[in-house]
Amino acid sequence: MKKISNKISIISGSTRKKSTSELLSNGIRNSLTNQGFIVDIITCFDIPLFSEDLEGDKKPSSIINIEKKISESTGVIICTPEYNSSIPGSTKNLLDWLSRPHDLGALRNKIISIVVHTPFEKGGGGAYSDLSRILSHMGNVVLHDRMGRVSGFRKKDGEIVKSWQESLDLLIDNYIKFIHRLNVGE
Ligand SMILES: Cc1cc2nc3c(=O)[nH]c(=O)nc-3n(C[C@H](O)[C@H](O)[C@H](O)COP(=O)(O)O)c2cc1C
Repeated sequence: MKKISNKISIISGSTRKKSTSELLSNGIRNSLTNQGFIVDIITCFDIPLFSEDLEGDKKPSSIINIEKKISESTGVIICTPEYNSSIPGSTKNLLDWLSRPHDLGALRNKIISIVVHTPFEKGGGGAYSDLSRILSHMGNVVLHDRMGRVSGFRKKDGEIVKSWQESLDLLIDNYIKFIHRLNVGE
């Protein structure tokens, strides 16, 4: 088995303060650090709206920093809410940045786990399938895990309740095994 890099990035798709995306991303980071990974949480705050006029020499430093983190990561986990049966513009905007230059963007050839969350038991399917399709289009491999659609998420005093942390731990176990199964790395 090849040795995989111990870096993983988490993209937190919300622009809301104290968001569920942030809470879940922290829980995912806990699972990963317990397994010895170095984790960066990338948020969608302060990301300019993508424009081809801002590419090349004019690329914002916030995007250059994110590209570096993503490039160094073996895997990326995207944690996002569902908006209107798809992903929010904030998540899509960051993906658009990371898809450039065409076929050479930082977010390609990555092994990706999706965590879509919604307060509604039957929600999340539109965001999940759209995100999965977009990431495949960008040239990534996506892990499909039944725990990748989180609904009815509950929190207690700003912390993840134990049963949810256990689900995230299981999701991360599956994800790490998936990365090893694909036998990527150095
Ligand atoms: C503009 C908007 C559209 C939404 N559309 C959906 C939807 O189609 N399906 C769904 O399950 N939840 C929908 N929601 C609820 C969000 O998924 C929910 O507010 C989520 O917890 C926000 O995530 P955050 O805390 O990470 O910002 C919508 C919320 C907003 C603000």
